Amino acid sequence: MPRLLAALYDRLMKATERACLQAWRAELLAPLEGAVLEVGAGTGANLAHFPKAVERLVLAEPDPAMRRRLAARVAGRVVEIVDASVDKLPWPDQTFDAAVCTLVLCSVPDPATALAEIRRVLKPGGRLVFIEHVAAQDNSRRLRWQRRIEPIWMRLMGNCHLTRRTEEAIRTLGFELADSEVRRESLRKAFPLARPSIRGVARRPAPPSRL
Ligand SMILES: C[S@@+](CC[C@H](N)C(=O)[O-])C[C@H]1O[C@@H](n2cnc3c(N)ncnc32)[C@H](O)[C@@H]1O
Repeated sequence: MPRLLAALYDRLMKATERACLQAWRAELLAPLEGAVLEVGAGTGANLAHFPKAVERLVLAEPDPAMRRRLAARVAGRVVEIVDASVDKLPWPDQTFDAAVCTLVLCSVPDPATALAEIRRVLKPGGRLVFIEHVAAQDNSRRLRWQRRIEPIWMRLMGNCHLTRRTEEAIRTLGFELADSEVRRESLRKAFPLARPSIRGVARRPAPPSRL
């Protein structure tokens, strides 16, 4: 991520945070408990929303400029900040009860690799909490514009893609995610081509219980 973008990130997101993101983060994170991993934690926008029932909180962030901002925001809280990319997570299989991934799968080199790694470190039955902006699949005009602008946008915005089909990718990687569990809404006040968004909670399937 360009250093300037890291420096401006919170300011650029302020209107969207107020319009919708803060409320979405609070709602999705409230039920979490146990050991939780956040990938691509950025400047720590989710930090205020983790409940007390989270016993271990690990924040993975590969970008040094973002990590510095994250460390400043953490101030005094017992959390682990780790220099780690979601493509290669340095934890054994089945370490975490939940993983949090907000506005990250748009920027990673390969969402399938990232999701496979998240699935690997989740315990069976573990939850993946996500908020992502995605391709405008139900609006062909907007989708055409997303495709046109994407190459420039990626260069300016730290590899951020506008046309990712993240909902499909989550299911393809073997997470359980019912259609009714996905909220599809506009990321209000964001750049118009980055507004189509999905959010929800997917699960790593638990093995069938033996009777
Ligand atoms: C748009 S910011 C989102 C930050 C934060 N998650 C939020 O909700 O505000 C994207 C974040 O993903 C991180 N990121 C990009 N590629 C990554 C990767 N391969 N593994 C983990 N994080 C990555 C960036 O460094 C950046 O902090």
